[in-house]
Amino acid sequence: MTNELIIIRPSYELKEAIWEYRQEYFDFGETQINGSCGIAQADNFDEWLKLVLSIEKDKLRKNVHASTFFSVRKTDNKIIGSIQLRHSLTPELEKHGGHIGYGIRPSERRKGYGKQQLLLALNEAYNLKIPKVMIICDKDNIPSIKTAISCGGILTCENIYEGKAQQIYWIDLC
Ligand SMILES: CC(C)(COP(=O)(O)OP(=O)(O)OC[C@H]1O[C@@H](n2cnc3c(N)ncnc32)[C@H](O)[C@@H]1OP(=O)(O)O)[C@@H](O)C(=O)NCCC(=O)NCCS
Repeated sequence: MTNELIIIRPSYELKEAIWEYRQEYFDFGETQINGSCGIAQADNFDEWLKLVLSIEKDKLRKNVHASTFFSVRKTDNKIIGSIQLRHSLTPELEKHGGHIGYGIRPSERRKGYGKQQLLLALNEAYNLKIPKVMIICDKDNIPSIKTAISCGGILTCENIYEGKAQQIYWIDLC
């Protein structure tokens, strides 16, 4: 496949590439970087990396463990997106957050990477023996909704969270 992605965990070796990825969002006027475990708000890479890696096994974030991945294009090793997979849900995450958050860098959107990245993360979820994955999208976020649907997401309900309409999708991995 041309433009094939792989997903990898963040590391010190990726510091420059992750910082460049982060900067592109700011250059496009975006302040949130979905699926990155808060890299936009992090001032110190080393502290952020320590936190991200600890959440996978030792510490909890929002009361669950989570894995954060960056998707990298095989042809040029460029970071294309970020995706976070929570290993379980809490009642609060069932209302807002779900299992997975994802983002594709602004300059690489609408090229099929969002779908490809989500499929790779679903494979990780399957390996973690998560039987069903919940994805929550703002009702007005058409790209996010279409990405969830393109990977098998089934709309199961709608709710309002902090005044905003959301749609809840489930993807069955069994
Ligand atoms: C959501 C996001 C990850 C999608 O990534 P992407 O690489 O652009 O998505 P793809 O190119 O793989 O497209 C996936 C589907 O969405 C559709 N889509 C993507 N952008 C769209 C847009 N702006 N308008 C309408 N449809 C769009 C595609 O046509 C495709 O649908 P299809 O399978 O029916 O053809 C990306 O838009 C993004 O990073 N947005 C900001 C962060 C965000 O909102 N994250 C989700 C909340 S956690």
